[in-house]
Amino acid sequence: MKKIAVLTSGGDAPGMNAAIRAVVRRGIFKGLEVYGVRNGYNGLMAGNFVQMDLGSVGDIIHRGGTILRSARSERFKTVEGQHQALAHLKEFAIDGLVVMGGDGSFKGAGKLTAQGFPTIGIPGTIDNDIAGTDYTIGFDTAVNTAVEAIDKIRDTASSHERTYVIEVMGRDAGDIALWAGMCAGAESIIIPEDNYDIDDVIERIQKGHKRGKMHSIIVVAEGVCKGTDVGQLIEEKTGFDTRVTVLGHLQRGGSPTAYDRMVGSQMGAKAVDLLVEGAKGIMVGWKNGQLIHAPFEEAAKDKHAIDLSVYHLARSLSI
Ligand code: ADP
Ligand code: F6P
Repeated sequence: MKKIAVLTSGGDAPGMNAAIRAVVRRGIFKGLEVYGVRNGYNGLMAGNFVQMDLGSVGDIIHRGGTILRSARSERFKTVEGQHQALAHLKEFAIDGLVVMGGDGSFKGAGKLTAQGFPTIGIPGTIDNDIAGTDYTIGFDTAVNTAVEAIDKIRDTASSHERTYVIEVMGRDAGDIALWAGMCAGAESIIIPEDNYDIDDVIERIQKGHKRGKMHSIIVVAEGVCKGTDVGQLIEEKTGFDTRVTVLGHLQRGGSPTAYDRMVGSQMGAKAVDLLVEGAKGIMVGWKNGQLIHAPFEEAAKDKHAIDLSVYHLARSLSI
């Protein structure tokens, strides 16, 4: 292993820069040449490689987004696209590739490995929805951003005695909704991992109202339905003044929290160590507060599971 490359793919996530920095610095520390691939798999297919030196990753550990930029690429799903990428990896004499992204990105990395090219995956997505790891880079920052936003909404909800529905991201997973809802003291949290029952949501709002609670916060994960649909039903059925906020891509940006920098740094360095040891087709992960690694296929066998005990606790704390 003499030359390695790193790319970021799928939705960007705060903390990716800390992980890129770790890949580059650990790689150089281990005597490797390190290349960055711009624009995810699109850049791999276009040969958009740039050599990274120690200074190229200076002053980025505190920045959101990804300095390598990211993309989703339909063409890379085809064999032709993968062959094009492999040709460029050969042209630049790259021996191993670190792919940072979600499970889609890992499927792509797995295809390269199946064709003989060593890849290591680093879980990076705000959704925290990857099987085989308790944590994905960016989740903590996204949750903190959502909590800060909901705290602000609570101020105006309370002043105007309104009900607020807040839609958060997460794709098909309810982790952001659960954590943000629990930590912001939401009256109801609606997640894809439980059956959505609007009557239950309304009953909880009305119960609170009866004991003098004049405002309510409902957090809904985008994977269930649109926040506007929930808001409309609440207003129709209760007559309470209701507003809806979609937090959207706000949740993807911002300076990464210390936790995301810490996990990103450790995962980035571990990915390089694994390549140097000759590993391939492996995902780095985080379990019980520690780094782990497992083959892509093994990690993908489990379905990502939310902690439902936390969900039930949140319900019992917001009666
Ligand atoms: P994420 O990595 O966050 O899950 P996507 O699902 O959009 O995001 O995947 C990112 C990219 O990974 C896709 O745009 C595509 O280029 C690549 N990819 C996804 N699935 C596959 C697949 N089955 N085979 C090859 N590449 C894939
Ligand atoms: O996977 C990260 C994520 O932000 C999801 O939470 C969301 O569903 C999706 O990406 C949005 O994708 P895009 O940036 O393409 O709109």
